Amino acid sequence: MQEVTLVEVGLRDGLQNEATPLSTAMKRELAERLIAAGVKEMEVTSFVHPRWIPQLADAVDFACSLPERSDVCYRALVPNRKGLERALATPIDEYAVFLSASESHNRKNINKGIAETYPVLEEVVKEALHQGKRVRGYVSTVFGCPYEGDVSVGQTVEICERLLKMGVYEISLGDTIGVATPIQVKEKLKTLTRHVPPERLAGHFHDTRGTALVNAYVALEEGITTLDSAFGGMGGCPYAPGAAGNAATEDMVYMLEGMGIDTGIDLDALCEASLLAEKALGKPLPSKVLQSFSAT
Ligand code: HMG
Ligand code: MG
Repeated sequence: MQEVTLVEVGLRDGLQNEATPLSTAMKRELAERLIAAGVKEMEVTSFVHPRWIPQLADAVDFACSLPERSDVCYRALVPNRKGLERALATPIDEYAVFLSASESHNRKNINKGIAETYPVLEEVVKEALHQGKRVRGYVSTVFGCPYEGDVSVGQTVEICERLLKMGVYEISLGDTIGVATPIQVKEKLKTLTRHVPPERLAGHFHDTRGTALVNAYVALEEGITTLDSAFGGMGGCPYAPGAAGNAATEDMVYMLEGMGIDTGIDLDALCEASLLAEKALGKPLPSKVLQSFSAT
């Protein structure tokens, strides 16, 4: 059976969109619980401007407080040189650079046009690789933009090629506002994988309209074996109006294990971590599997 890598993005994508900021100590407790549940690939924070994302303003302190684990890969977003300097002062293992397939979202999110973003990312990737870090790339709004609507697949192909040339090892394709539908995902991936091998791609589906899991399934059918998800189903980009949570890790694990794919994640322990997050955030989280766990 196919192997799948799940990248847990809840502590980053999840918390960046929450009204209630969590303390560094609570984030650490959640990280410990995720590790205890078997999570091995964990995006924990972003070295972005604290004014832009106040929920992750403690990025350096939090990253430095994480348990030392040689079997866990800690990841974080790095937008520019200043972010890289902050990241390099921490033990984060792997970085991710990011931009959008649509000009308007790129401007709203990182305050630059796409063309102006390339040299910034080039510098970050070059220096990060020089420092011995692996670098992932994200492309947002691949399946639709909150400001421009449809986004051409050609634009995504062009950005992916630029990112690969810079030296990123993988590109995560973001359905930032959760508008994608399965046939659209299939068609876009068929075009994309003519230019970028599926082993170099990952799926990052938000669940705004309830299609994240089925889109993830279609991505698997198209040969993608790395999927992003957030515990409890938290998530969303504050600079993409209407964006809701990521595919929930609980729901993803349930689906994958049901397909005979071993995720290495203990579902009950994961649900316990999400229950703690619900308590800390003071609200229920959307994962369906979590809801059924809570009801039993
Ligand atoms: P800017 O204001 O254009 O930055 O922000 P600047 O380069 O003009 O610098 C202005 C000041 O900010 C300077 O300080 C810099 O030092 C400082 P001054 O000299 O005036 O005192 N500065 C920083 N400070 C701390 N950390 C930094 C940093 N950079 C500059 N890294 C910037 C540009 C990119 C920083 C800003 O727009 C930003 O932080 N944006 C981040 C937005 C964000 O995090 N969005 C969510 C993540 S993306 C996402 O969720 C999508 C994804 O999940 C996939 C999907 O779902 O599609 C990945
Ligand atoms: Mg996202």
